[in-house]
Amino acid sequence: MLKIGVFDSGLGGLTVVKALSQVIKGADVFYVADTKNAPYGEKTPEQILQYSLNITNYLIETHDIDALILACNTATAFAIKELRERYPHLIIIGTEPGIKPAIAQTKTGKVGVLATPATLSGDKYQGLVRELSLGKDIVFYEQGCPGLVEQIEKGETKSKRTKALLEAWLSPMQENRVDTIVLGCTHYPLVTEMIKEIMVCDIQLIETGSAIAKRLLSLSNVVNHENHGALSITIHSTDSINTDIIDTILTDYILHIL
Ligand code: DGL
Repeated sequence: MLKIGVFDSGLGGLTVVKALSQVIKGADVFYVADTKNAPYGEKTPEQILQYSLNITNYLIETHDIDALILACNTATAFAIKELRERYPHLIIIGTEPGIKPAIAQTKTGKVGVLATPATLSGDKYQGLVRELSLGKDIVFYEQGCPGLVEQIEKGETKSKRTKALLEAWLSPMQENRVDTIVLGCTHYPLVTEMIKEIMVCDIQLIETGSAIAKRLLSLSNVVNHENHGALSITIHSTDSINTDIIDTILTDYILHIL
């Protein structure tokens, strides 16, 4: 049985688990929501690396995982290189803002990026944008969203406060005819409806969960994964979690919540 460790600062990474559940069968998923240390996006690179190492060690020692998914753009930005060096035999897949599909899909050449402040300031993101937009006529409207992860973790995906925050962040994108917005944090798909409502126009929102699921499926043959049978999902958190959010994301699963 394929054992997959997945982690994020909170429950946002369950949007990636949902995408996995649509592609991966016959596997055990062990999810860690590091709510004790959330939000990662406002922590230092050293702290983010340390949290990521601690969780990875836990997943290896306790669950003997074959694959690790960093269901967090921020952790990927600051920890994936070190994790790959330390654990060369583990399948390790990270989450990166979907700049490539956004460039392919935009018609106006104006792309918005919503992400945590840490992700946007990291070398990984900066390098990705530089490399992929080289020689192309694309303008990026980048917006860090401090406080949005906390709003979502509290279950405030439809509240007035969340709407006011998003309205302020999206206003420059609206004025500049952005037609594609990259959701550069795995929590943000949970406010998709609100973003669409505020932008009014026909907007494409880019998330990367299904690309991660397909990548895992293609790499899982190295451990002879057969991909049939039931998927089991166990959720572990380092502090309290809002179980209502879990129910809205993973509606069809019997979950084990530790
Ligand atoms: N879901 C994480 C991400 O994709 C949230 C980071 C945070 O906790 O600020 O970056």
